[in-house]
Amino acid sequence: MAIATHPDLRAEFPTLDREGIVYLDAAATSQTPRAVLAAMNDYYAHHRASVHRGVYAVAAEATDLFEGARHRIARFAGAEARNTVFTKNATEALNLVARGVAGPGDKVVLTEMEHHSNLVPWQLTGAELLWVGLDAQGRLDLDQLDGFLAAGGVKAVAVAHVSNVVGTINPVADICARARAAGALSVVDGTQAVPQMPVDVLELGADFYVWTGHKAYGPTGVGVLHGRREALEALPPLLGGGHMIASVTKEGPRFAEVPTKFEAGTSAIAEVIGLGAAVDFLTRIGMDAVREHEVELTAYALEQLSAMEGVTLDGPHAAEERGALVSFTVEGVHPHDVAEIIGSRGVCVRAGHHCAQVLMQALGHQATTRASFSVHSTREDVDALVAGIKRVQEVFA
Ligand SMILES: Cc1ncc(COP(=O)(O)O)c(C=O)c1O
Repeated sequence: MAIATHPDLRAEFPTLDREGIVYLDAAATSQTPRAVLAAMNDYYAHHRASVHRGVYAVAAEATDLFEGARHRIARFAGAEARNTVFTKNATEALNLVARGVAGPGDKVVLTEMEHHSNLVPWQLTGAELLWVGLDAQGRLDLDQLDGFLAAGGVKAVAVAHVSNVVGTINPVADICARARAAGALSVVDGTQAVPQMPVDVLELGADFYVWTGHKAYGPTGVGVLHGRREALEALPPLLGGGHMIASVTKEGPRFAEVPTKFEAGTSAIAEVIGLGAAVDFLTRIGMDAVREHEVELTAYALEQLSAMEGVTLDGPHAAEERGALVSFTVEGVHPHDVAEIIGSRGVCVRAGHHCAQVLMQALGHQATTRASFSVHSTREDVDALVAGIKRVQEVFA
């Protein structure tokens, strides 16, 4: 537990200064380290200018901060800066990819555990969707994937790296390799993976890999799309406007090179700079240490909750096979009531379908309660969760 109990680390998060707050909702959005706030403030206070266009000193500084952040963000995920695109969030990045890749008459393989962000955009394309199911521990049925791929004609395989509900870590390198061998593009939603574990996009071999800043200790308003160069070059832009063109005539635009082609309009400059500070923050801790800490804490939570009568957990039994969250139901109590009673004690957890209604249907739930962990979480936080669930059971006894 060395990293979270380190006083300097908890002190990095101003929200945690609030009396009685136990924040267990990092899977929804993470708290913001002071270093991220400082980086954004520094831009606004000292280097405020638009990027890429100005020739004066302040504009050059802003551009350096912005493009410097792109380099560090790309390196953090094992990608190249020139193949790293900024979007508004993961959802926008997935819409950009889905819209550009698939259309009516195409076949796209999805999994039943996808967040709506990696599901509805594919539904909007009009493509035929093929669903890979899960076993009792929330692991994907790869034989089913192979069956879909063997039948031929699959345009893309879209899969979460880590489930935001059952927590399963999917074997995405293997899935991307199977997709590639079948001539299909691979699209990985890494939203829950990048903040939690070392991720090397090139090593994973994904054609497209997406994540979001606000779950990775960065600000809201910035998402990230890494892509294989040729795949990005073949992808049409989602938005047209300023900055994304090389030239424009009455006949039409000639697009700028990737990644500029996908970044129409004024970018979320402060947010990208803030996300740069967030990956520096994570790099200072070390992603191996982050993962080690969160596995230990997840194992502790699984052990505590599985020992409680009337509490049912979803997802893989082993902490090593899952991301840093536990999703559970309490017998006879609606998940919203669970979250409300726990929340009234200062413990912040999420209840609902977690934007994964197809998964809820597969699990046979309407909703679950979810507690998720981050670098600042401690065993005492898990104990507060357990005490909260005991209180729920007393109230509803
Ligand atoms: C697995 C997963 N994918 C995508 C998203 C969407 O992220 P954003 O709302 O930042 O676009 C989320 C957010 O909950 C998520 O958990």
